[in-house]
Amino acid sequence: EAVPPLRSLEEDGPDAAVVIDVLRATTTIAWALQNGAEAIQAFADLGALEAAAADWPAARRLRAGERGGKRVDGYDLGNSPLAVTPERVESKRLFLSTTNGTRSLDRVQAVPLLLTACLPNRTAVARRLIERQALRVWIVGSGWEGDYSLEDSLAAGAVASAAIELAVAPHMGVRCANDEMLAALALWQQWRHDTETCLRSASHGQRLISLGNHDADFACCAAVDSLEIVPIQAEPGVLRAS
Ligand code: MLT
Repeated sequence: EAVPPLRSLEEDGPDAAVVIDVLRATTTIAWALQNGAEAIQAFADLGALEAAAADWPAARRLRAGERGGKRVDGYDLGNSPLAVTPERVESKRLFLSTTNGTRSLDRVQAVPLLLTACLPNRTAVARRLIERQALRVWIVGSGWEGDYSLEDSLAAGAVASAAIELAVAPHMGVRCANDEMLAALALWQQWRHDTETCLRSASHGQRLISLGNHDADFACCAAVDSLEIVPIQAEPGVLRAS
């Protein structure tokens, strides 16, 4: 969905935000860090990305850019989680800009704790929220250019469901603050055993299928709990493994 207008974070803002972009930015971020990337530096704007990358040693940087599901011309990588192999990313910083996911990250940078989630690491993220005793959590689906995203809502439900399952102590509970979260939980209950079909049915999944050569991305993006890694914002715009 569209990122909510940032309220005053000092008064009634969240303790934490979890940014989701299942197809494919936050899946790619998780796999890049899993495969040894030094960090992911996220940019809403390509110009800012190129300026920052130019100041980084060429041997230790990769520019990864996607617009409309396609790799940005002249960049080292697009936004496929299968392209960020250990051979490609080990010890390198990825300077990343995508159509929606990095814009979401940009909009919620000011929260005290910023994590990114996808289906592969949904339980690990839920566990981290509980460990950090986050009380008010925004789960931000990146959507598509401001429109609703089925796959991001599925992952939001997956994270919330994991938090509910993990919050076993009597004093701990998870309350969904709005209808969108309740709907996301229902979506997860509906599709949790066939997530890839859900991703392929979604409008952005259909967009990627129509573009061709992205078919193998779906299984990777749909692989629930295949990763333990939790990307965390270490400094504004910079995500590291944790
Ligand atoms: C996005 O940012 O909307 C997605 O990651 C686009 C994509 O890579 O398919």
